[in-house]
Amino acid sequence: MVNLLQVSVLPPFLMERLEQEYTIHDFIDPADPDALLEEIGPKIRGILAGGMKGPNATLINRLPNLEIISSFSVGFDATDVVAAQVRGVIVTHTPEVLTGDVADLAMAFILMAPRRIGESERFLREGKWLQGRMDLGTTVRGKRLGILGLGRIGKAVARRAEVFGLQIGYFDIKPMGDLAYRSYATLMDLAEASDILLVACEGGEANRSVVSSEVIEAIGPKGFLVNTARGPIVDQAALVAALEDGKLAGAALDVFDGEPQVPTKMMAMENVVLTPHIASSTHETRRAMGDLVYDNLRAHFDGKPVLTPVPPQMG
Ligand code: 8YV
Repeated sequence: MVNLLQVSVLPPFLMERLEQEYTIHDFIDPADPDALLEEIGPKIRGILAGGMKGPNATLINRLPNLEIISSFSVGFDATDVVAAQVRGVIVTHTPEVLTGDVADLAMAFILMAPRRIGESERFLREGKWLQGRMDLGTTVRGKRLGILGLGRIGKAVARRAEVFGLQIGYFDIKPMGDLAYRSYATLMDLAEASDILLVACEGGEANRSVVSSEVIEAIGPKGFLVNTARGPIVDQAALVAALEDGKLAGAALDVFDGEPQVPTKMMAMENVVLTPHIASSTHETRRAMGDLVYDNLRAHFDGKPVLTPVPPQMG
């Protein structure tokens, strides 16, 4: 049987399926990684990775017979894709199958933060309704939604937001061709022209803190920030400060820099919607993601092209 190294926790249904066809070595939290690699390293032909935990260059280069890394995620920032690809190691991910669910959560956030839905629920549960009515929220109809990164997920959110009467603008480093949405030359320009800024771009070092304190302040004291992409894209300390100082009206976040840790100050803020990285967490989508992880490995070890390779990331 082909030997695989598992570096991230994966759903049981996927593991059961894989265990019937592969020998899987647990490398999620190894007590003595060096000793384990010494023993099994040369046998490993594939790595099972996840969106928050993937192999770095050191690990990739310790595996002389590595052929493929299959990640249970659309985002591939946790894996050193360049280190893999320069060695000819294929990296696969799980695009498309999670787009709808991630876009649904982003759309829910776009409604929740301005309409103060999370806060309203706490208000009711804490018995405050008995003392009087909840303060007013902000309508989203007619407001400007700025999308940072108009990829698969960004476009799917734009389609949903149109139905809710939002005006769509975007900034993307790639040319998008002819679209009905307004394109902005820089992220600052987009932020200045947004009532709600949605982060929907790729993670990774290139995008670390691109949503800086200046960008956050450009959204303005009546504006909202929504992030369902990756935590480190936003300067989290600057976001906390802007929320504390009233320079931003609110935020809705599914991802955090350093998750599962969430800044204590944020936990106490009424105007921030917080969820534990659940955008793709439905039975249906997780099943489809798992099937794709399996199918990519099966295709490769059957000598066929993989279904969803990560495009070349070198220069
Ligand atoms: C998952 C994700 O929560 O697909 C991604 O990039 O971040 C999420 O769908 C994560 O990858 C699970 O490992």
